[in-house]
Amino acid sequence: MSLLEVSGLNVSYGGIKAVRGIDLEVAAGELVCLIGANGAGKTTTLKALARLLPAHGKILYQGKSIAQTPVFDLVRQGIALVPEGRGIFGRLSVEENLLMGAYSRRDTQAIRHDLEKNYQLFPRLFERKTQQAGTLSGGEQQMLAIGRALMSRPRLLLLDEPSMGLAPLMVNKIFETIRAISAEGVTILLVEQNAKLALEASHRAYVMESGTICLSGESATLLNDPQVRHAYLGE
Ligand SMILES: Nc1ncnc2c1ncn2[C@@H]1O[C@H](COP(=O)(O)OP(=O)(O)O)[C@@H](O)[C@H]1O
Ligand SMILES: [Mg+2]
Repeated sequence: MSLLEVSGLNVSYGGIKAVRGIDLEVAAGELVCLIGANGAGKTTTLKALARLLPAHGKILYQGKSIAQTPVFDLVRQGIALVPEGRGIFGRLSVEENLLMGAYSRRDTQAIRHDLEKNYQLFPRLFERKTQQAGTLSGGEQQMLAIGRALMSRPRLLLLDEPSMGLAPLMVNKIFETIRAISAEGVTILLVEQNAKLALEASHRAYVMESGTICLSGESATLLNDPQVRHAYLGE
């Protein structure tokens, strides 16, 4: 069964339709990417799934509609968004930021355990746990944003452009981490402009264009599709 099943999703800003009746599905344990040019509607889609924007259409999570579920309950049910631009709290320390990710939880012991797990996944965050988050490098802030999302123990992780603005080495590091999180069994919907890396890392992919899904399939197949290579991989 699909962990996430979306059909006929529509999202508008005022009179402007940014997402026009898209369908998509993510099975439990899958790493699915959503790629497409700037302005295609990827962020809008993720925000609608995280219920940060009003939307029309069907959104089923674990087989149940979440169309009316408040954001707080969504987090408790295991949906976590790592927003574009990361959204960390610059004045708070690294550790305080991580603990913010556990705000919906009351299981103190397990929160400590997850904090340690995060520090194993991101040794850099451990080294900098008392540092003000605003003073971290871009890549470290991205790690922190992902780490914070993991602190809610997500079943479904929504990642918006994790590689944006990062140096190549850091991009590789972030993608390694995404694969590791996926290998642990977390279901991931990854939005990326770096189509090549996203297709290489994911099982399946959707390609978005002007608010619609214009192409979808196995990532390995799309990687070898001449049309995709020309339009999205710059070949
Ligand atoms: N807050 C907003 N108000 C009005 N239009 C918006 C807003 N955010 C995004 N848009 C428009 O919606 C479309 C999709 O944007 P977005 O989802 O951010 O695309 P992507 O993430 O694929 O780059 C674009 O045309 C963009 O200009
Ligand atoms: Mg975007």
